[in-house]
Amino acid sequence: MTNSTIKTIGVVGAGQMGRGIAQVAAQSGLNVCLLDANKELAIGSVARIGKALDRLVSKERISQEVRETSLARISPFSDFQDLADCDLVVEAAPEREDIKIDIFTKLAAVTREDTILASNTSSISITKIAACTGRPEKVIGMHFMNPVPVMKLVEIVRGLATDDSTYEATVALAQRFGKTTVAARDIPGFIVNRILIPLINEACFALYEGLGSAEDIDIGIKLGLNHPMGPLELSDLIGLDTCLAIANVLHQELGDDKYRPCPLLKQHVAAGWLGRKSGRGFYAYDAQGKRVN
Ligand SMILES: NC(=O)c1ccc[n+]([C@@H]2O[C@H](COP(=O)([O-])OP(=O)(O)OC[C@H]3O[C@@H](n4cnc5c(N)ncnc54)[C@H](O)[C@@H]3O)[C@@H](O)[C@H]2O)c1
Repeated sequence: MTNSTIKTIGVVGAGQMGRGIAQVAAQSGLNVCLLDANKELAIGSVARIGKALDRLVSKERISQEVRETSLARISPFSDFQDLADCDLVVEAAPEREDIKIDIFTKLAAVTREDTILASNTSSISITKIAACTGRPEKVIGMHFMNPVPVMKLVEIVRGLATDDSTYEATVALAQRFGKTTVAARDIPGFIVNRILIPLINEACFALYEGLGSAEDIDIGIKLGLNHPMGPLELSDLIGLDTCLAIANVLHQELGDDKYRPCPLLKQHVAAGWLGRKSGRGFYAYDAQGKRVN
C-alpha cells in the first residue's frame, strides 16, 4: 500500500478525534468509513462533522459545494466487516489497551493483508498493539493533535516491526492532509505527551495545593510562558479521562513516581467531570462546548 493507492480509509471511534480525522480525510478527497460502537453514534458523528463543515462555509474557508462533496464521502458504520475494503484504518477509540487490542484483532481479521493499521493512541505501545495483528509490519502510530482540522502536527510512531513502506505511506498521507510530521520512538507518551501530560499534571497539583485558582494558573502559563492555552483549559479540551489514562501509562510503563497522577485529576474523572465533552471539568461548558464560567 502506498500513499497514491490509498483511496478509502476507515476511522474507528467517532469521538472528537475520530470526527476530526474523518473530516480532514474527506476534505482531502478520500472515502471514509466511520465506525463507532453503535450505528446511532456513528450517524450522529457524521451529522456533527456536517456542522463543523457548516462553520467553515460560514467563515468562507470552504464553498458549499466542497462541504457537500466532503460530507458525502463519509459513511457511518458499526460493523467491522464494513471496513473490509479500506486501504488504511486509523483507530481513535478510548485510551485503553484492552479496547485497542480488541479493535486491532478485529481489524486484522477483516482487512486485506496490505491494509495499513494505524492507531491515534496518545501513549500506548504501538509494538504491543501490533503484536495482536499477525502482521506487525503494517501497524503504525499516527498521532493527530486536537482539534485535528486545525492542528498542524502528526506524530508518526514506528513499532519495533513497522516496515519502511508502511512508514513512508503514512507520512505521505499525513502530508496529503496538510500536516507536518515528526518521527517519535515507541516509548510511552512519544514526544508530545511525554512533555505535555507532566505539565498538565503539575498544573493539577498546583490547583490541588492551592497555589492559585484555575484561572490564575491558566493565565500565569498563557501570559508568563506565551502558551495559547493554559494547561487546565487544555486538559478540559483533551478530556480529563484521556489525560488520566495517559498519566497512568507514563507512571506504570516508565516506573517513575514523578509521573504519578494528581489526586484531583483522579477525583474529577471519578465524578464524571471529563471537561468540555461532559459539560464540566476544571471549568463549565454549555451544550456547544462554549465556556460559561
Ligand atoms: N482528546 C485529545 O486531545 C486527543 C489527542 C490526540 C490523541 N487522542 C487519542 O485519540 C483516542 C480517542 O480520543 P478522543 O478524545 O476522540 O475520545 P472520545 O471519548 O471523544 O471518543 C472515543 C470514541 O470511541 C468510541 N468507542 C468506544 N469503544 C469503541 C469500540 N470498541 N469500537 C469503536 N468505537 C468505540 C466511543 O463511542 C467514542 O465515540 C484516544 O486514544 C486518545 O488518547 C486524543
